[in-house]
Amino acid sequence: MMRRWKMGFLAAVLALSLTACGAQGNDKPAADQSISQETEATTDVAEESADAQDESTEGNDAAKDTSTEEEAEKPVITETFQSLFGKYGIKAGTCLSDYMITNKNCESIIKTHFNSITFENHLKPDAILDLQESKAKGELVVKFNATTEKLLKWCKDNGMAMRGHTLVWYSQTPNWIFYEDFDTKKSLVSREVMLERMDSYISQVFTLLEEKGYLESFYAYDVVNEAWMEDGTKRDCLWLKTIGEDYLWHAFYYADKYAPDYIDLYYNDYNEQFKTETLYDFVQTLKDEEGNYLIDGIGFQAHLYTEDDLDTYFKTVERLGSLGLKVNLTELDVCLGSWPSIKPATEENLKAQGQYYYNLINGLLQRVDEGKVKMDSLTFWGFTDNLSWRKERNPLLYNKFYQPKYALYGALQMKEYAGFDE
Ligand code: GLA
Repeated sequence: MMRRWKMGFLAAVLALSLTACGAQGNDKPAADQSISQETEATTDVAEESADAQDESTEGNDAAKDTSTEEEAEKPVITETFQSLFGKYGIKAGTCLSDYMITNKNCESIIKTHFNSITFENHLKPDAILDLQESKAKGELVVKFNATTEKLLKWCKDNGMAMRGHTLVWYSQTPNWIFYEDFDTKKSLVSREVMLERMDSYISQVFTLLEEKGYLESFYAYDVVNEAWMEDGTKRDCLWLKTIGEDYLWHAFYYADKYAPDYIDLYYNDYNEQFKTETLYDFVQTLKDEEGNYLIDGIGFQAHLYTEDDLDTYFKTVERLGSLGLKVNLTELDVCLGSWPSIKPATEENLKAQGQYYYNLINGLLQRVDEGKVKMDSLTFWGFTDNLSWRKERNPLLYNKFYQPKYALYGALQMKEYAGFDE
């Protein structure tokens, strides 16, 4: 018999699925450029709607009563991600936005489950490169705004380990950094000037984090994000255009020069299961003159779908794991359906998602246990659907009422509640 909490939960997801149906025409590939560039705006809207949600729940007795009944019958969550993953030497991570630390539901979920943080936006190039000061000084200036400082302080105060994200990327990077006098009406700078700027930019990031007392919180940093296409070619971007084919090597060379040894340096990408051989070959070029790696690990974004083949995914984990570099899952979320065809949030599809999360995490932990891959961090790209960059595809662990989905139980390896047939 269907338990009452499940029925309440179903009603919520049915409401969500109606919204999702209207959004299907906007489908885009995982980590699509235009979605990435719109992240900040999307998040604002999500945060407003989450605020409205919290207010309406607080001011509505009926809603309160229902949630109390649901509370009473909900399976007790006996596991947390930090405890589960910790048994395998893996940190449990989430991305973090400003909203998440001002909303009490979010803050409590984060503190319960996670011990590693990646900023969703506030350490990206467009958040930390300052146009006015760069123009005034005649060289690139890195500066943290008030929100970046606030988030860094929250992480330190709460003992969170941090993954830095990200230094060199084609997206969320201001175009003015590539132009003479930081003026996009002028010409692109020469290779030599852009290499100097890259060197100075990367050096300043680590120096500033150290000066402000935050560097020791970091254990990993994404040096380059999303540089490769599925056909094995480099993505066209202004870093490539100004510096040339070896811009990726230089990014790792400077990061290796300025980052302390305790920070692992990562190449991070999406559709990793379709770029496996490209990445396998590429990372082996990231070596110094003596043949030592300039890179420590490969970040798998893991923006997946419930119909993505898990055997293919595990083959990628084992193949790239066989290089001996670390592998981190850096942005895990699992949408319903497949990339060309999103499915609505029906009970059946949400159960399939619970099973997928169970099987994925189970297979990963097993491979870590068997020594097939070195993984010291697994990060979800958020935890609640309403704050996700792909919220219309319901990819995360909690629904918009901050109630657990089958996905949460699946990921936590609580198989009984993960949506498998009884
Ligand atoms: C990519 C980036 C992330 C984020 C997502 C969209 O995966 O690496 O930082 O921007 O796109 O939210």
